Amino acid sequence: MYQIYPRSFADSDGDGIGDLPGIIARLDHLVELGVDAVWLSPFYPSPQADAGYDVADYRDVDPIFGRLADADQLLAAARSRGLRVLVDLVPNHTSSAHPWFGAALAAGPDGQERARYVFRDGRGPDGAEPPNDWQSVFGGPAWTRVTEPDGRPGQWYLHLFDTGQPDLNWDRPEVRAEFVDILRYWLDRGVDGFRVDVAHGLVKQADLADWRPQDEPVSGPGTEGPRPPMWDQDGVHEIYRDWRRVLDSYPGERILVAEAWVQPAERLAAYVRPDEMHQAFNFEYLEASWSAPAQYAVITRSLAASAAVGAPTTWVLSNHDVLRHATRLALPVGTPRPRGIGVDDPQPDPVLGLRRARAATLLMLSLPGSAYLYQGEELGLPEHTTLPDESRQDPTWARSGHAERGRDGCRVPIPWEADAPSYGFGPGDASWLPQPTLWAEYALDRQRGVPGSTYEVYRTGLRLRRELRLGTGSVYWLESPDGVLYFRNGALRVLTNFGADPVELPAGAELVHASGPLDPDGRVPTDVTVWLRPGDEPGEA
Ligand code: GLC
Repeated sequence: MYQIYPRSFADSDGDGIGDLPGIIARLDHLVELGVDAVWLSPFYPSPQADAGYDVADYRDVDPIFGRLADADQLLAAARSRGLRVLVDLVPNHTSSAHPWFGAALAAGPDGQERARYVFRDGRGPDGAEPPNDWQSVFGGPAWTRVTEPDGRPGQWYLHLFDTGQPDLNWDRPEVRAEFVDILRYWLDRGVDGFRVDVAHGLVKQADLADWRPQDEPVSGPGTEGPRPPMWDQDGVHEIYRDWRRVLDSYPGERILVAEAWVQPAERLAAYVRPDEMHQAFNFEYLEASWSAPAQYAVITRSLAASAAVGAPTTWVLSNHDVLRHATRLALPVGTPRPRGIGVDDPQPDPVLGLRRARAATLLMLSLPGSAYLYQGEELGLPEHTTLPDESRQDPTWARSGHAERGRDGCRVPIPWEADAPSYGFGPGDASWLPQPTLWAEYALDRQRGVPGSTYEVYRTGLRLRRELRLGTGSVYWLESPDGVLYFRNGALRVLTNFGADPVELPAGAELVHASGPLDPDGRVPTDVTVWLRPGDEPGEA
């Protein structure tokens, strides 16, 4: 599964923002790469307060991305190439520019229209304090006070994200009905499914109880302590059971994928029970340290948790919300995931990062289940860690009081051609975020057909994954020295060396694919994954 972030994939009209016609023109790249499906981040009409995750109209295309006819054409063009398409559904909140929110503001404190959102009177004298202590994921309070139609300061509304993203009230039947209708609208147009944004957030604890500010407010509480009142409430599951019935009433295979920052793996697995969603992003995997014990633990736990509910496990290393893994994996092992890196932060080593990223990707592509790729990782793109602060657009930067750089560094338009303006992203120089000069060396045309390039490592990995049916296989762990993971999936043996020293290939093993060159003496160096055909049968652990 390949994630397209439309703003940054390909720009057909030269305004510096990627668009749907740009995607259509580049679909053959995805066929050549060898993916099965794409997931498109939002392209709906939106004020772009959060790069389109603030939706003003769920049934249309924003003019910056094209027209509705382009969406239809994209679906048809993908289908004719055998690619499935998932679109992004944003049900936790609308944009503040959505007609419902306009009606809620106009209706005043007693109006019925307010009930579709989470409006409350404030606390303290004159209601001047927010109704509770919840913090926005992007920083600052999760509440904003409105000015009532009579001009006086009035109620507050809840927004777990930006002020431009008021949370919907999922207790209301009309909210539920509206989203079933939106699902049908896109299913009727031919989409193969939905990636469901903030799937763990829709239902809030009824009393909106205070919650001490969390360091990682988007995550669940881990294995200990109370569950946050805004995340992973049991009530969300009823919504997904309803949606599943809708999808099942359509012909063919249609799927729901949960974006749910929920831990531990067993709680996440609840989202993919047989009558709910089909898959859920495995962020515990994304966040696991680059060490043999940590990777062994997360892989085993993930496989067990999804097996318990009969769902495919998923794997993901990068997306539009996190540091690209070619940069993240160069941070000292065990560093908590930073929210953006700026020019005055320590700069991670790009050579080390790419080496580990390629090893991590080949490890991921050898695992059973669904692997999710993020545009540009097939080129080995690093995070843009020296983006000028004045060009930042992620609301995190302003809302955190400039404490967190945010996510722009992983969203920079991607390079196609080393020597073209905007590296082939668009017809001219324009690019909504500045591209770093080193983009030329990562451009697709510098890597295509070049043995050992990151692109060719991905392409061969994806081809073999398909041929060897790794996605529907199983993991059998094999004995290995400390610092090395070694397992079998079907006819393939997979070895990743996390240790400090090179390791010998198992006796008689034949090399099928590798994330990087072996040592001259044939040993597997540190931070390299190899795919092997068995030699002598080693004992199973
Ligand atoms: C999800 C999206 C992220 C967005 C947030 C609010 O986490 O992936 O980009 O900012 O939801 O919609």
